[in-house]
Amino acid sequence: MTDKLFEPFKIKNTTLQNRIMRSATWDATADEAGAVTDHSIAIYERLARGSIGLIVTGYAYVSSPLGKANPGQYGVYSDDLIPGWKRLAKAVHGGGDSKIAAQIVHAGINSGWLVEHGFTPLAVSKLPDFNRPHRELTDGEIEQIIEDVAAAAVRVREAGFDAVQLHGAHGYQMSQFASPLFNRRTDRWGGSAEKRRRFHLEVVRRARKAVGNDYPVLIKFGVQDDREGGMPFSEGLEICREMEKAGIDSIEISGGVGGGASLAIQEGEIDRPVFRERAAAVKKVVSVPVAVVHGVRSPELAKDIIDSGDADMVSFSRPFIREPGFVARWLKGDTRPAICISCNRCFPIVRRGEPLECGEERRIREGKTKT
Ligand SMILES: Cc1cc2nc3c(=O)[nH]c(=O)nc-3n(C[C@H](O)[C@H](O)[C@H](O)COP(=O)(O)O)c2cc1C
Ligand code: SF4
Repeated sequence: MTDKLFEPFKIKNTTLQNRIMRSATWDATADEAGAVTDHSIAIYERLARGSIGLIVTGYAYVSSPLGKANPGQYGVYSDDLIPGWKRLAKAVHGGGDSKIAAQIVHAGINSGWLVEHGFTPLAVSKLPDFNRPHRELTDGEIEQIIEDVAAAAVRVREAGFDAVQLHGAHGYQMSQFASPLFNRRTDRWGGSAEKRRRFHLEVVRRARKAVGNDYPVLIKFGVQDDREGGMPFSEGLEICREMEKAGIDSIEISGGVGGGASLAIQEGEIDRPVFRERAAAVKKVVSVPVAVVHGVRSPELAKDIIDSGDADMVSFSRPFIREPGFVARWLKGDTRPAICISCNRCFPIVRRGEPLECGEERRIREGKTKT
C-alpha cells in the first residue's frame, strides 16, 4: 500500500494537495435568499484546516425560486449573492491549502420545499402517478435552465472558487432528464437514450463556453438509476464518454434516481464502497479524473481504491460532518477510521432547516440512549 492518496493530484491546471474530496453536503445555513451566513463560514473554516484536497460546497440552486430543493440551501442565481460566495472562498483559501468548488443544481420535480411554499415544481414530464404537484417544462424553460446553470458557473468563477461542480446525481433535475422513469418526453429532450442525454451535454457545453476553456467544470454523476425501469449502467457510461467530449474535467461517481439506497452503507459498518465497481468501469472509458463517493471510512480502503486504479480520488461526506479534521488526523499517524457511524441522524436536522451537525454527537450530548 502506497501513500499516493496523500500525494498532490491535478484536475486540469489545478493542483490539489491530495486525492481526498469532501463531497457536496447541504448544511442548511444559508439565509432565506440563499446567501452565505456567518454560520456557513464557520463550517468551511473548520473544513479548511483539515488538509482536504478539494472541498465541494453544499448544492446551490441556479434559478429562484423554482430551482430550490430544501431549506437553508445556498443560492447562486443572482450576482447579489457573489459577495457571500467570495467570503466563503476566501475563508477556505486563507485557512489552509485546500481548493474549493461550488456545487450547482436545479431541483426539478424533487422539491418538497417548493410545494410547502406554494410553488409548483418544474418536471421534465408530467407524471400521472407522482404524488406531488408539478408541471411539465416547456422547451423555452429548458433552454432558460441551461442558461441559468451557465450564468451560475460564471458567478462561481467570479467569486474566486477553484472549480464548479454540476449536480448530476440523486434524482435532481439532471438525473431526471437522463432517467426513463422521469423523462417521458417525445420532443428533442426525450424519447430515446440519445435524446435523454441531450440535457447533460448541452449543460456541459454551455457551462464550458461561459467559463472558458481553462476553468475546471466537474460533475457529480449518478451513473445508474437504482430503481426498476430506471437508467441502465450502459447509458450512464455513454453519458460519461459524451460528457468528456463536451468538455467535462472530472466525474465523481454516485447514484442517480434511487441513489443506490438499496446498497448503502449500514449503521455501524466501517467500509462499504458501494460505487467502487461503477467508478472502475467509468475509468476504463474516460481519461479525465474519476472520484468515488459513499461508504469509505478507513484510510486502508481509501488507499486501496487509489492504488488499484479503481478511482483517482476518494470522496467523503458524512465523515466530515462528525469530524472535519479526520484527514489531518490520518496524516499525523492516527489512522483509525473516520468515527462517523453512518446512522443518518444528521439528515432530520437539516430537513428541519436547522444548521447541520452530527445527530449522533447531539444525541450523546443530550444523554439520550438509542433513538
Ligand atoms: C446532510 C447531508 C447533505 C447532503 N447534501 C448533498 C448535496 O448538497 N449535494 C450532493 O451531491 N450530495 C449531498 N449529500 C450526499 C453526500 O455528498 C454523499 O454522496 C453521501 O452522503 C454518501 O457519502 P458518505 O458515505 O461519505 O456520506 C448529502 C449528504 C448528507 C448526509
Ligand atoms: S449523524 Fe450519524 S451519519 Fe451523520 S455524521 Fe453523525 S455519525 Fe455520521
